[in-house]
Amino acid sequence: MTKYVIKGGKPLKGTVTVSGAKNAAVAIVPAALMVEGPCRVENIPQISDVTLLLKILEEMGANISTVNRHTMDIDCSDISTDFVPFELMRKIRASYYLLGAMLARFGHAKASLPGGCDFGVRPIDQHIKGFKALGAEVEVKNGIITAEVPSGRLHGAQIYMDVVSVGATINVMLAAAMAEGKTTIENAAREPHIVDTANFLNSMGADIRGAGTNVIKINGVDRLSGSSYSIIPDQIEAGTYIAAAAATGGEVLIENVIPKHLECITAKFEEMGVECIPYPDSILIRRTSPLLRTNVKTMPYPGFPTDMQPQACVTLCFAEGTSVITEAVWDNRYKYIDELKRMGASVHVDGKIAVVEGVPGLTGAPVKACDLRAGAALVIAGLCASGTTEVEDAHYIARGYEDFEGKLRGIGADIVCVETPDDEEVSRSAV
Ligand code: EPZ
Repeated sequence: MTKYVIKGGKPLKGTVTVSGAKNAAVAIVPAALMVEGPCRVENIPQISDVTLLLKILEEMGANISTVNRHTMDIDCSDISTDFVPFELMRKIRASYYLLGAMLARFGHAKASLPGGCDFGVRPIDQHIKGFKALGAEVEVKNGIITAEVPSGRLHGAQIYMDVVSVGATINVMLAAAMAEGKTTIENAAREPHIVDTANFLNSMGADIRGAGTNVIKINGVDRLSGSSYSIIPDQIEAGTYIAAAAATGGEVLIENVIPKHLECITAKFEEMGVECIPYPDSILIRRTSPLLRTNVKTMPYPGFPTDMQPQACVTLCFAEGTSVITEAVWDNRYKYIDELKRMGASVHVDGKIAVVEGVPGLTGAPVKACDLRAGAALVIAGLCASGTTEVEDAHYIARGYEDFEGKLRGIGADIVCVETPDDEEVSRSAV
């Protein structure tokens, strides 16, 4: 177990470099299973979710070699579906992408129901609807999903998504990439990581068009062959540093970004009175005047991302006046607010609405991360608070942020990550 110990009150200053996109990497690594032969994946973020997916592939028989810190050669030629490590799969939501990948390559698949952040109900009915439309028979029993294509190979289909879902769009795209014939996905999600996954597959010989729009057209191909691909920079990691610079009243240059992907975020921070100056592959964030109250509503891309909601909420704690946040993607993504209140925040939650009253400042306190983005937001709160803040269960943050401590220290933060005895050790020492 680890926790972050933060001494707050200093504006962040300097330059930070963004890593590869988590939500692209956790789709691209499973997609490598569809490729016969080695594929080289570059700009892979060093985060625990990716490490876990690579471990799952290895246990299934993949040959994985490290080229350097951010580049892997993944060869799934000898992979077999006879052994799928359910225990590992349960630990991560994106393990559901192995379903689409296995169905595409083998015409059958088995996986445990996925884990991931607890935002209330997280159904996968749209994934299953898509697989069935492509000709698979799908059964969910005892926590295991089994999908089988009686004819041995999926066939193209017209699929209308009832909700805009990142996961379902990617999973159905994976499956359809090697189906017989044409597939159209309507009401598709448009996030940058969907485009990146489609580009990865196209670089391996797939024929996918329209990713990034709400209609994706796929001509199925017989097989994919290895090549090399570099993952895009992480939009949400960059957004988190934008919030950290804005909330602390600092000046930070964020390098290795695609400014276009950040517009849905910077538009909101500019409303808060934050300067966001884009350059070709970096962005300068500066705040010199008081933060302004702003209303935020989370939406699928290109709307304001739900994965930036906690970070925006923390920033608005320091804005003068009342801001209203509407969480329109997840049912229950405010669990972190009680922790924020321990630091003196004034936020009232009513269902999907959070009303944030600006306060003069927060005070340091021991708090607990309850998921990845909430954890990052509590660290930002600690960087702004007077005194010392301890953010426990920091392992959540390691799931999606590479070297969070090192990067923050690089822009002047007083933060250390320390080991803490886990419950077992505590109880053992009590005996
Ligand atoms: C992806 O989750 C991201 N995870 C999440 O980021 C992100 O919050 C979410 O998209 C929304 O942007 C990954 O990419 C690994 P969805 P996903 O399917 O795919 C409903 C992070 O912090 N829905 O787009 O699970 C669902 O309940 C993580 O990096 C159905 O009803 O999200 C939700 O209300 C946390 N049926 C909405 O759609 C389905 O079959 C959006 O979910 C699927 C989804």
